[in-house]
Amino acid sequence: MKLAVWDPDEPFRRWRDALAQHAGELRLAVEVVDAAAEPDEQADFALVWRPPAEWLAGQQRLRAVFNLGAGVDAVLPLMRAHAPQVPLIRLEDAGMGRQMADYVAEAVLHAHRRMDDYAALQAHATWEPLVLAPRTGFGVGFLGLGHMGLAAARRVQALDFPVLACTRSGTPRAGTDFDGPIYGIDRLYEFLGHCRVLVVLLPLTPETRGLLDYGALSHLPRGAHVVNAGRGALLHEQDLLDLLEQQHLGGATLDVFEHEPLPAGHPLWSQPRVRITPHVAAHTLVGPSAAQIMRKIAALERGDHPGGIVDARLGY
Ligand code: GLV
Repeated sequence: MKLAVWDPDEPFRRWRDALAQHAGELRLAVEVVDAAAEPDEQADFALVWRPPAEWLAGQQRLRAVFNLGAGVDAVLPLMRAHAPQVPLIRLEDAGMGRQMADYVAEAVLHAHRRMDDYAALQAHATWEPLVLAPRTGFGVGFLGLGHMGLAAARRVQALDFPVLACTRSGTPRAGTDFDGPIYGIDRLYEFLGHCRVLVVLLPLTPETRGLLDYGALSHLPRGAHVVNAGRGALLHEQDLLDLLEQQHLGGATLDVFEHEPLPAGHPLWSQPRVRITPHVAAHTLVGPSAAQIMRKIAALERGDHPGGIVDARLGY
C-alpha cells in the first residue's frame, strides 16, 4: 500500500523512516511518498498537516486521511469539499498530552504564585511579599476535556488544585478519571464563575468559534488567568485585552491566535500581563505518531474501526 505524507513542518525522511520501521514491526508492506515532491502519486492513505486543496482533490483512491495533529479544523473543510466519503482520523494524544500537561501546569503555578504581580514589583525594584490564595479555593477549569484537556487536568489535579470542566454534553467520557464537577456547555457562565484559571482546550467548530467573548469572559472571577492552548478563534482577543485593561482579568497565557503568526504590532504583544508562545504547547512527535498511525492502518486493514475517527457533523 502507498502512504503519502504532506507535512510542511517536518523533513519528509523523518516520517518515511518512522513509518517504515513501524510498518515492518506490524509486517505491513508500505511505500511512503513525499506528497510535496510527487503530488501526482495516488496513495491509499494520506498523512497531512494543512495540505493544499488541489492536492487532496487530485487523490482518487484514498481509504483514510490521518491528520498530523489533534485539531482538525484546518483540514475538515477540505475533506468536506474534496473527499467527503473518506474517513478523517486525528491523532489521539501520541505524546502531545504530556507536553500539554507541562504547558498548563506551568501556567497554573505561574498564576497561583502571582508571578505577573512579582514581575511588576521587580520592574520598580520593590520587595513586597504578596498574599497567596488558598489552594482549596483556587479552581482550575478546563473548557474541553478531550485527550489534551484530560491530560492537563490530570496533572493539575496531581498538583492538588481543585479542578472542574465544561464540555458539550456535560458527561464524562467512558473510563475518564476526572475528579471534579463537569458542566454542560449550556451552563458555561456558571462554570466560568468558579475558574480562577480557565484552560481553553476545545476543538474549533462553528459552535465554539468566538465562544469566549466579553460577556462570557466577564463571568470569570476578578483576577482570573486565561490559558488558551486550543485555537485562537475560540476567544475574542480584543475582549480579552479590554478585560485585562479594566483589571477584571489578572493575566493570560496564550499559545494560539486568531492570526498566526501573531502580527507584529498586535496589542497582545505589548500587554505586560499576557505571555505569548508561538503555537508550541504540544508539538506532533514523529515517532509516537507514526506508531499510532501504523497501528490504525493495521486495524483498518483488518476491517476494524480505529479510534479518533472524526465525526464530521460535530467537527472533531
Ligand atoms: C496543534 O495545534 C494540533 O492540533 O495538534
